[in-house]
Amino acid sequence: MRILTGLQPSGKLHIGNYFGAIKPAIDAQGEGDGYYFIADYHAMTTTHDPAALRENVRGVAIDFLACGFAPSKGVFFKQSAVPEVNELAWILSTVCPMGLLERCHSYKDKVAKGISANHALFAYPALMAADILLYDSNIVPVGEDQKQHLEVTRDLVGKINDLYGENTLVMPEARIRTDVAKVPGLDGEKMSKSYNNTLPIFGDEKPSKKLIMRIQTDSAAVEDPKPTENSIILALYQLFASGEEYQQMITDYQNGGCGYGDFKKRLAEAYWDYFAPMRSRREELINNPDEVDQVLNAGANKARKEATKVLDRVRKAVGLA
Ligand code: ADP
Ligand code: TRP
Repeated sequence: MRILTGLQPSGKLHIGNYFGAIKPAIDAQGEGDGYYFIADYHAMTTTHDPAALRENVRGVAIDFLACGFAPSKGVFFKQSAVPEVNELAWILSTVCPMGLLERCHSYKDKVAKGISANHALFAYPALMAADILLYDSNIVPVGEDQKQHLEVTRDLVGKINDLYGENTLVMPEARIRTDVAKVPGLDGEKMSKSYNNTLPIFGDEKPSKKLIMRIQTDSAAVEDPKPTENSIILALYQLFASGEEYQQMITDYQNGGCGYGDFKKRLAEAYWDYFAPMRSRREELINNPDEVDQVLNAGANKARKEATKVLDRVRKAVGLA
């Protein structure tokens, strides 16, 4: 069983990305034959700054490895290291109705936000379908927002297989992460880089802890009991603390006698300690760029071998070979 997922290289990762996407992907390692790639071609639909693109791709590679991805248990590569994906995207485009792309929310949302539409942004789902189909993927773990792109992918497989034979492409299935709770941001809304309410995974100590100390709370006095429902501090603390520590904080909320400043300090410590091993692994990787290159190159070689096999099969089926 092949599991594949793509990571957007979109700048600094926050703890919502970690608990919502990175940790589940790393936890799923070993469950099947895992393919993970950095979607750098996709990033070009919205950025045309070469230095920023390079830096973001490098950053995601380092962060993903630092968070615990084990190269021995999966294939990790840059999307653009397998340019064959563009040929498959083209072949898929020839059977992709305009209406299918016009209905895609993610395209409509981006245009509504004022991002000027280019052809690549419109065709984004066809390239994403090619990412998936080029490796005969069976399972694709993604967030809820990507569900429609998986439906487009499945539609395209149906069309290709109807036209060119049942075994031309493998039908993939989405695995939508409904079990991961939304991580709240520092203002209580969903944590998102677009809301400016994020806590970074790998920020500097003082500014990151300061962000926590600025979380808005009610005006309960130190000695008062405090409401546990909808507490941002508790929701975040639960991600980092042991069960016992979390229960202790609940008790302290209910009994009164501890102020919000104290709770925030405990949260800041727990957050900082949680990522400590990953932080030191990240330092190692930053100081040893060859290690990162080696992982990505080895991944690209494996991925490309697999891609060539599938593309040869498709080329024959459609009459290009
Ligand atoms: P952002 O909302 O900051 O732009 P992205 O859309 O780039 O984040 O999300 C990348 C991945 O991280 C997606 O799989 C998404 O589901 C996950 N993710 C982002 N924010 C959260 C959150 N607050 N809670 C849980 N998962 C999240
Ligand atoms: N579009 C995905 C996102 O924004 C990233 C992505 C690109 C992807 N190609 C993919 C995810 C293929 C899964 C499979 O998060």
